Amino acid sequence: MPVPDEMRNRVLADEDATVAFGRELHDAVRQYFGDTATVYLHGNLGAGKTTLVRGFLRMMNHVGAVKSPTYTLLEPYRTACGDVFHFDLYRLKSPDELEFLGFDEIFAGPGYKFVEWPEQGTGWLPPANVEVSLSLHKPANTAGDAQQMQREVRVRFV
Ligand SMILES: Nc1ncnc2c1ncn2[C@@H]1O[C@H](COP(=O)(O)OP(=O)(O)OP(=O)(O)O)[C@@H](O)[C@H]1O
Ligand SMILES: [Mg+2]
Repeated sequence: MPVPDEMRNRVLADEDATVAFGRELHDAVRQYFGDTATVYLHGNLGAGKTTLVRGFLRMMNHVGAVKSPTYTLLEPYRTACGDVFHFDLYRLKSPDELEFLGFDEIFAGPGYKFVEWPEQGTGWLPPANVEVSLSLHKPANTAGDAQQMQREVRVRFV
């Protein structure tokens, strides 16, 4: 039961809460897996996956921008606290592409590998050590307009 109870399932009230959760996740992941782990990020477009990675990177003292690697498939970060590889496979055409791009070497090496849209790499990607799922959450006493939606996060260490 490595995921602390209070992290397994939580409502994130706003963007800052998602960033803060990413920071917390960093500590839990480092404590349990050390400096190397594969983290699958499940959730629809706009669910907050990249925002969570930003929080994780802030905890590693990365101060610069964290951009969505939607077109580049990968955004690497070399921080003083270790390497982070942020993948977004939304536009991947076939899992074989990952091998042509040399990503197998990245997964074989140290560092944290975050994968948005891991379903797109099925059959090629190594299994996850951590599964994170983000979904929309309607706050109590609201109509649930798109702009008002919060997020719900679930975490599982495999
Ligand atoms: N807890 C939250 N409550 C409300 N809005 C949030 C929350 N967390 C993040 N957001 C907002 O959700 C939007 C989308 O975030 P983000 O880009 O991280 O999503 P994503 O899951 O990476 O999307 P994509 O699949 O397109 O890459 C951002 O505008 C962000 O501010
Ligand atoms: Mg994203």
